[in-house]
Formats: sequence, structure tokens, C-alpha cells
Amino acid sequence: MGLTELLVIGVIAVGGVFGRLNSRQPSGDTPHRIVGGADVPPGQHIPYQVSLQYKTRGGQMHFCGGSIIAPNRILTAAHCCRGLNASRMSVVAGIRGLNERGSRSQVLSYSIHPNYQELVTSDLAVLSIKPPLKLNNASISAIGYQSLRKEFVGGGVPVTLTGWGLRLPVPFPFLDNVNYPTVLQRMSYHTISNKDCRDAGMESVTDTEICARGPFRGACSGDSGGPLVTQTDSGPKQVGIVSYGLVVCGLYISPDVYTRVSTFSDWIDNQLE
Ligand SMILES: *[C@@H]1O[C@H](CO)[C@@H](O)[C@H](O)[C@H]1NC(C)=O
Ligand SMILES: *[C@@H]1O[C@H](CO)[C@@H](O)[C@H](O)[C@H]1NC(C)=O
Repeated sequence: MGLTELLVIGVIAVGGVFGRLNSRQPSGDTPHRIVGGADVPPGQHIPYQVSLQYKTRGGQMHFCGGSIIAPNRILTAAHCCRGLNASRMSVVAGIRGLNERGSRSQVLSYSIHPNYQELVTSDLAVLSIKPPLKLNNASISAIGYQSLRKEFVGGGVPVTLTGWGLRLPVPFPFLDNVNYPTVLQRMSYHTISNKDCRDAGMESVTDTEICARGPFRGACSGDSGGPLVTQTDSGPKQVGIVSYGLVVCGLYISPDVYTRVSTFSDWIDNQLE
């Protein structure tokens, strides 16, 4: 089965065209998912989560996730930026529902990691935005990330993914309101070791990546660039950035592949200056 990046492909492929061009075979599953997640409850926020949006003739379209690492910097995936016109990109912070107003900032520029290779390695980018976000410690705040000097995260670590990506393993025609959630989804599962990830079919996974999986759950189209987070003694820390997975999302045994944030912490630090 093929691998795929997990952005909302249609928006990106042809800048001005409004649509979602995922044509994939269905496989059975139940709704209410990230795949496999649940709505973030009313009144709660994932304050570091942002929606990356692209201006099309149809309006502002969510196409990827990202995380706030400084008032004027967003961490996301390289494949969410490459080839895109930054002046049509914006980020929305402080929202739970995509229909909420929140706080919108324009993307000024993006910096893609110089070693980025599609579906291979270094799938990360940092966006510069204007105006800077007003961090309020409630609905909008920055998240720390694991540094190279900290221990390498192995298998079996509980992690949480959030995003507005596809809830079903594949998009069903004419059911966009079922396929794509308006309310931010949250899902928890566990990391697996890179060896287990390769053994599970993600053969090209290297130490620059980290994998996670759980029964009938996973990242899907529209979750790309979003944060995988673990709880530590010093609060939540980002360990991964949604990178790629199988074409059909949330299959029982299939892991999701994330960019391993700790590998790149020095490069990310440099982008903050
Ligand atoms: C980028 O988008 C802006 C605003 O839509 C437009 O004016 C500009 O020509 C675009 N640039 C390129 C290189 O397409
Ligand atoms: C942020 O909120 C937490 C919990 O409400 C509180 O303990 C902390 O002091 C706050 N931090 C700042 C900088 O306001």
C-alpha cells in the first residue's frame, strides 16, 4: 500500500482550485475520529494548535496544522509549505471550531529545513507570521519542544495528537461535513520504536523520525504539520510533527510517521532569532 503526506491535497495542488482531490478506496470504520479521536470538549482549548489556511477563490481553506513555538513563529511540516505562495497563507490561533473567528496572522515567509526530502527525512518548516500572536496562557500559548540534549523518545510513550484532519480512513464523496470535522479532534496513542515501525512496513523510517500507533486510530489528510505532544514534569512538550502515513488512515496495524522534533531542536532554535 502506498504512503502519503497528510495534507488536504486539493487545496495545495492547484492554488486557485477549491476542492479535495483525494480519490482513495474506502475501508470500513466508524465516524467521530481524527481517525479515532474525539471532539475537544466545549470550553477547552489546545492553546498551541493552529490551523494553516490558504486563500482560494472559495475563501480561506484549512489545509494543515501547526504549533505555536513563539509569538511570531509556527512549527509545521515542510510539505505543508513547499511551492506555496506565502502571501496566500495565514494561521488561525485560539480556535476550537474552524468556523470561529480566533486570531488570524498572515504568513510573511517560511523556512524549510535544508535537508528536507519528501517521504524520506527532515519534513519540517518554521513560519514567520505578522502580527505576532498575543499569548494569553489560556486559548493561545506556545509549546516547548524536546531538545537534542534530552533523552531520545523510544517506544511505549503516551502521546496526544490534535487536528482538523479527515475523520474517516478515506474521504467519501459529497460527505465533507462528515469527512472533515469543524471541531478540533484529539486522540491519544503510543509511540513505537523505530525498529517496530520499520517492521510494520514503514521501511524508510530513520532516527530523524518517530512513529506512533494505536488500534483503529491515526493521523489523516488535513492533520499534516500538526503537533504530537507528550506530558512531562515540566508540562506538555512537542515530540513530533505529522509527516506521512498509509494512504488509508487508521488501519489497525499501520503506524503514523512524524518528524522527530528533538533531532532538529538546534535548527528550530536558530529560526526563532
Ligand atoms: C502570490 O499571491 C499574491 C496574492 O494573491 C499575488 O499577488 C502574487 O502574484 C502571487 N505570487 C506568485 C509568485 O504567484
Ligand atoms: C498560566 O496558567 C496556569 C494555570 O492556570 C498558572 O498556574 C500559571 O501561573 C499561568 N502562567 C502565566 C504566565 O500567567
